[in-house]
This record gives sequence, C-alpha cells and structure tokens, in this order.
Amino acid sequence: MSVRERIRELKHSRFAGWRFVYRCLRQGLLGIEFFSNRRFRAETLTKLRFGKHFHQSATFTAPDRYPVVFRACADYLSSIEKPRILSFGCSTGEEVETLGHYFPAATIVGVDINDWSLRQCRKKYKEQRFSFLHRLSPEFDAAQDFDAVFCMAVLQRTENRTTGDNSAAQGFLFGQFEEEVALLHQKVKSGGLFVIDNADFSFMDTSCAEHYIPLPFIKNQLRRERPAFDRNNRKIAQSQYYYRVFAKG
Ligand SMILES: C[S@@+](CC[C@H](N)C(=O)[O-])C[C@H]1O[C@@H](n2cnc3c(N)ncnc32)[C@H](O)[C@@H]1O
Repeated sequence: MSVRERIRELKHSRFAGWRFVYRCLRQGLLGIEFFSNRRFRAETLTKLRFGKHFHQSATFTAPDRYPVVFRACADYLSSIEKPRILSFGCSTGEEVETLGHYFPAATIVGVDINDWSLRQCRKKYKEQRFSFLHRLSPEFDAAQDFDAVFCMAVLQRTENRTTGDNSAAQGFLFGQFEEEVALLHQKVKSGGLFVIDNADFSFMDTSCAEHYIPLPFIKNQLRRERPAFDRNNRKIAQSQYYYRVFAKG
C-alpha cells in the first residue's frame, strides 16, 4: 500500500486521533500546494473571491478536446463568412486557439471568471481576432449575436462526481445551471448553435430547450460515465447520454 493510500485510510479510522492526524496532514499538503502551485492558488482564490458566481473550479483544458463536436459545428456554420464565436469558460485559452483552426475567419471571444487564466490567454494567444473577457465585465454583459456559444466543462462541480454521497447535487444546483444557460441563450443568434458538454444537468431540462433542436450528426449524443442530476438536483442515473450541439430555431 502506498503512503498516499495509508494516509487516506486514516480518514476513516475508528480512532478520533488518527482522523485528526489525517485532517492536519491534509491541511498541510493543501498549504504546500497553495504556495507552490500557481494554478491551484488561482483556482482557490477565484473560488473565494467570486463565491456564488463560480461554477467549476478546476481549470483543466486541452487543445482540440472535442474534435467531433468542433468539426460538426464548423460544417454547419460553413456558409457564414465571418462567424462570431464565444468560448465560455475558456480557461487558459486552448479552446479558443483550437476554435481558431476550425473557424479560420471567425472572431472568437474567450470568457472566464479566473483572472490568472485570462492573463495566460492574453500572453499566449495574441491573434487580433481573439479577445478575452472577464465573466463579470460590462463588455461580456454587452456581448451578443454569436453564431456559436461553446460552454464546455463549465456548468458542473467536480464534487458532484467525486464525493461519496452524491445522491443530490450540491454546491452547483439546477437553478444556477438554468440561469446561466438562459444568459448564454440570449447571446446566440437565431439559427446559431448552443454547444454544451461535461455538465451536471441536461440542457433539455431547461426552459430554453424549447427554442432548439439537436443538430443531427453521429455522436452528437454521447455516453459519459458521470452522474446525471434532474431539475430537483436528485441523481437519476450513474451515466449521461446527452446531446451536445443544439441549433436555435
Ligand atoms: C474545466 S475548465 C473548461 C475549459 C474548457 N472549456 C474545456 O472544456 O477544456 C472550466 C473553466 O470554467 C471557468 N469558470 C468557472 N465558473 C465560471 C463562470 N461563472 N463564468 C465563466 N467561467 C467560469 C473556470 O475558471 C475554468 O477555467
């Protein structure tokens, strides 16, 4: 058994003393991580600073993370000369860069709530057609008329997948999900696309869904091994089989 596993076992020890040791070790390790890891520090501080506005704390991202979805969207919007695209929850910008390849003539706005992430974006991706905005900025409030809005791995909480008892969603609830979907829905042009993946709830459960139809392409509907929660925040299944790309009528 590794040292890490041994330490984790202390959490469930019958003896209060060992459970106390576990809590001390955990706090100590979190402290070390906080001071040595800039990304982790930024995630923690953003969570503290923006409280209820904050959804997913992890900033994990990767280039070309959803190739099937990106390709289908690029095909659908191919007749639009200069599409306007929003990457909501853009993290450190790889999604914006990737979308730049799928949509070579597009202007792309990346939005995030984490200032550290936005600084990485501005440092790394300097093309004039890319811009990066804070989620709570007046510029984002005013931004609209997007041909596609990508909302990938944002409307979720890691804890809803990882805590032992996740029979009900906690921290990030359906009401917040629906509110954020409604805000983004206002920013999608008629005929445009709403793209959502890796979320705790189903887009189809929101009141906005009646304005959309799922885009017909293979693998639009994908099985993901993560809990599905309903409008009342109750876990209704261990896996999801949700559509990801919706066209606005
Ligand atoms: C896991 S990353 C997803 C990055 C990228 N979209 C992807 O799928 O690879 C989630 C991002 O959402 C951001 N985020 C959390 N709450 C947000 C909010 N209220 N508005 C905008 N971004 C938010 C986090 O700061 C983080 O960068």
